[in-house]
Amino acid sequence: MSILIKNGKIITASDEYFADIFIEGETIKAIGQNLEVGTGRVIDASGKLIFPGGIDPHVHLDMPFMGAFSSDDHETGTRAALFGGTTMVIDYAIQSRGGSLHDALETWKGRAHGKAYGDYSFHIAVTDYNDRVKDELKEMIEKEGITSFKTFMAYKGALMIDDLQMIGIMNEVKKYGGLVAVHATNGDMIDYLVNKHKSENKLTPWYHYLSQPEITETEASGRFVDLAFMTDVKSYIVHMTCEGALNKVRDATKRNQKVLVETCPQYLLLDASVYQDGFNSAKWVMSPPIREKKDRETLWAGIDQGLVQTVGTDHCPFMWRDKLKGEHDFTLIPNGAPGLEHRIELMFSEGVKKERISMNKFVEVTSTNVAKIFGLFPQKGTIAVGSDADIVIFDPGEEHTISAKTHHHRCDYSAYEGWKVTGKVKTVLLRGEVAIDDDKVWIEKGYGKFLKRGTPL
Ligand code: URP
Ligand code: ZN
Ligand code: ZN
Repeated sequence: MSILIKNGKIITASDEYFADIFIEGETIKAIGQNLEVGTGRVIDASGKLIFPGGIDPHVHLDMPFMGAFSSDDHETGTRAALFGGTTMVIDYAIQSRGGSLHDALETWKGRAHGKAYGDYSFHIAVTDYNDRVKDELKEMIEKEGITSFKTFMAYKGALMIDDLQMIGIMNEVKKYGGLVAVHATNGDMIDYLVNKHKSENKLTPWYHYLSQPEITETEASGRFVDLAFMTDVKSYIVHMTCEGALNKVRDATKRNQKVLVETCPQYLLLDASVYQDGFNSAKWVMSPPIREKKDRETLWAGIDQGLVQTVGTDHCPFMWRDKLKGEHDFTLIPNGAPGLEHRIELMFSEGVKKERISMNKFVEVTSTNVAKIFGLFPQKGTIAVGSDADIVIFDPGEEHTISAKTHHHRCDYSAYEGWKVTGKVKTVLLRGEVAIDDDKVWIEKGYGKFLKRGTPL
């Protein structure tokens, strides 16, 4: 089956031009003016923009966390992602304490296999570093196609590692060309503040926010940057929220160090007033918390300056009944919020339409850079002959409103309820198949496949 997309305007990270795209099988076979090829389906994309399929570098699907499971699994999560123009996600397989990296990978592959609509891969979160795990890092990179490893500097007693373990992981990952990612907040500073607030009976979501001030992220980000400098490993800070942390990365450029940075729509668009709404604020209890207007401005500027390379969602939804576990104690609220489906439309509407970033930059941070950094380029992340036909056909003028009533997440609220956006995903192709069209899904559950990744560019 072949598909010809005619009359659309193609936007890549570097170009913007009118051309037709001819697809045969899973890949793009030709791009050119007035193509007359094949006898298959013709899609008229007049008046539409054509982007490479979005890749979300940071999601948590079906993850056991803080006494619950994130409510989107690989079926509902990747399906919602496709509706929003994201054709691939990179999820986190979390090593359990005492367990192996292989166990983590197999467990998460088992959760996704046969269920995912969209393509997927995993980062592995190393939570318990020892000699056995050291050997596994090589195998993960060389045999399993897992080339990025997440570390936590917070969540003490559950996920957090210390600096010596961090150095060990960095040295080992560096040997094989992989990348070390980090949740960079200082777990001890946070625990001190959490205990202080609890002892004063300050237990509402507002105190979640006050327990993780900017300095907890600035300190850990700076420490991570220094450890990465010492070990010379490729490094990446996930879900960055604030000016102090980004300035640590900016400072590192003065000694010619490059640290890659991801931020998320919630940190670009929301502010800490969301924590002043009683227990309703639990919807936005995530770590790190949402910050201030000045931080949003720093992050937008950071994208424009090339200091922030990717925008992921950290999609980690919990049903309201799970959030309610923390009704009388914010430390029991499962951390995380939904967002996967809305990343592309929010970034287009708030970024491109409001002239904060160019259209090319939008494609770069939502797709191309993710593919490059995580070893998927040029199979994914661009529109080019030979690349996978992962394509979003987008109406830049259509206005709509985000709501839990209409979203495809398995979550009974939205973090963006009532947000008006301009621009809508109309048709999505995944590896040459029409996956979304006419507000319906056209591929079968299980079509999504696991991709082994190469080393970061
Ligand atoms: O609150 C969050 N971010 N939940 C997901 C786990 C993490 O820290 O990324
Ligand atoms: Zn995190
Ligand atoms: Zn996360």
